[in-house]
Amino acid sequence: MIIEVEGLRKSFGSVAALRGVDFSVPEGKVLGLLGPNGAGKTTAVRILTTLLVPTGGRARVAGIDVAHHPGAVRRVIGLAGQATAITPDLTGFENLEMAGRLYHLGRQTSRQRAGELLERFDLSDAGGRQAKTYSGGMLRRLDLAASLIGRPRVLFLDEPTTGLDPRSRLGMWNIIRELVAVGTTLLLTTQYMDEADELADNIVVIDHGLVIASGTSEELKDRIGGDVVEFSVTDRSRFQVAVDAVSSLGDGSPLAEPAEGRVQVHAGGQGSQVLVEVVRRLDAAGAQTTGLALRRPSLDDVFMALTGHVAEEIGAADGTRRARGRRGGPDDGSGGQR
Ligand SMILES: Nc1ncnc2c1ncn2[C@@H]1O[C@H](COP(=O)(O)OP(=O)(O)O)[C@@H](O)[C@H]1O
Ligand SMILES: [Mg+2]
Repeated sequence: MIIEVEGLRKSFGSVAALRGVDFSVPEGKVLGLLGPNGAGKTTAVRILTTLLVPTGGRARVAGIDVAHHPGAVRRVIGLAGQATAITPDLTGFENLEMAGRLYHLGRQTSRQRAGELLERFDLSDAGGRQAKTYSGGMLRRLDLAASLIGRPRVLFLDEPTTGLDPRSRLGMWNIIRELVAVGTTLLLTTQYMDEADELADNIVVIDHGLVIASGTSEELKDRIGGDVVEFSVTDRSRFQVAVDAVSSLGDGSPLAEPAEGRVQVHAGGQGSQVLVEVVRRLDAAGAQTTGLALRRPSLDDVFMALTGHVAEEIGAADGTRRARGRRGGPDDGSGGQR
């Protein structure tokens, strides 16, 4: 485990930003630290990168305690965040050269790596221009390039794509995948489920300074009940017949929404078998359907189920399931957090 976090706590006066957080990251893997605004993600990253001292618990990076030996930790890590460490009046090249000097790389090595990184991040043409003329996506790439100048073993990316347009976001994902392919360990924070799903080997979901779930994306999806078989009944007068036909399949009772003519069968881990059986029984019952589909829960579903922001509601009294709200994800409406 190249990152080890145990019982980590941090308070700012009366605000408890982290309330006892544990996680670890094996070397060469990507951990996605997923949570809404204010969850404590940046606080965790700042502690791990020695910019903040924890109130309690401990953290080690490459076996080195971050609170006791911050200088040694800094030599093996890189950090790129939202608040870019870029000096607007310097050119792209000068910014990277300066980052190299801060890492004590010496003038020649700094200049050489600056050139390589500009090339690699598609910034060669812009390298001679002041950073203040760069687009948001270019600045993010330059910031990431600066964090790589010391060739870190462990890289921390704090919301690397928040506020980026979709194309720059995909570009950033590709860059991140390349970094991981060459063995860099990555801790990435994000508020976006799809980003964690795409990039992370393991996901730690935090909310209000506590870990509320962790595992692979697939494990998290399984936790909220696995696959769902969905269909709509064409002839509404046959709706109840269709519901009765599938009522013994899957986990618990099917979710019936008579107003929309829609039925969901919760199939656990047996999605395809249940799907086949649903088709057979509907056919035998003479119920015509449209939109018959097997659906995996999305990480959005997981997140909302866990945090309760919007979620499937399990009726307390009768255990019936009610319709899951169409997503208004935590990334909606917040705009580009800066
Ligand atoms: N320097 C600070 N002083 C006071 N409160 C802070 C400070 N930094 C963060 N917080 C608070 O700690 C909590 C976690 O913040 P943060 O780690 O930035 O969350 P995230 O990065 O997940 O959005 C929030 O309630 C935030 O307001
Ligand atoms: Mg943050």
